[in-house]
Amino acid sequence: MEPIKIAVAKGRIAEKARDLLSQGGIAFPDTLFDERKLMISSMDNSYQLLFVKAADVPTYVEKGAADIGIVGKDTIMENGKDVYELQDLEFGSCQLVVAGFPESFPVDTKSLSVATKYPAIAKAYFEKLGIRTDISRLNGSIELAPIVGLSDVIVDIVETGSTLRDNGLVILREIAKVSTRVIVNKASYATRTEVVQSCIDLLKKGVEERRANYYKS
Ligand code: PRP
Repeated sequence: MEPIKIAVAKGRIAEKARDLLSQGGIAFPDTLFDERKLMISSMDNSYQLLFVKAADVPTYVEKGAADIGIVGKDTIMENGKDVYELQDLEFGSCQLVVAGFPESFPVDTKSLSVATKYPAIAKAYFEKLGIRTDISRLNGSIELAPIVGLSDVIVDIVETGSTLRDNGLVILREIAKVSTRVIVNKASYATRTEVVQSCIDLLKKGVEERRANYYKS
């Protein structure tokens, strides 16, 4: 049978995905995680992990190059791809926020300049509030933008809050809570329902076990 292909971002998400799968009895050769291989198979060849950039995971899944993707909700929201989102894996939890200097987003704001890695999310968020925006798309070090006058505010993810704190910025509004999710290609779900669902059940079981252990400890 064709293995189930799962697109993941290399690094922490890939390792967590491997751990959840191996908890469910699907083992991957550990050594391959240290190499520069972009695709590895489980020992029983029933699963393949594809290592891609986080922002590309939804594309691989929408186009059917992967049956399943494991990726942050922020990336899913930004990409707006036509896929099913079926499971919250409850790790990588953070907030997607508008941040800036304390007075930089007064209630009667009519227009704002915004720096962000998430232009689509920022555009939709401010449009809903009726605020005109001038959006600068950046690729990192977003917190620098208000400090050097590139933007009034930023739209970014906050995990521990230390980057904001260390740069004198604060959360001004919360846009969404985000965590790592499982997305599924629509055709795969229709034609390979049983195997795809068994993979999701396996991941779900791993999440539930982890949650149970957390509350026990
Ligand atoms: C992310 C995000 C924030 C930071 C938030 O950046 O864009 O800058 O993490 O984390 P914290 O609340 O725990 O401080 P990342 O580390 O991905 O680096 P980047 O600036 O290169 O995007």
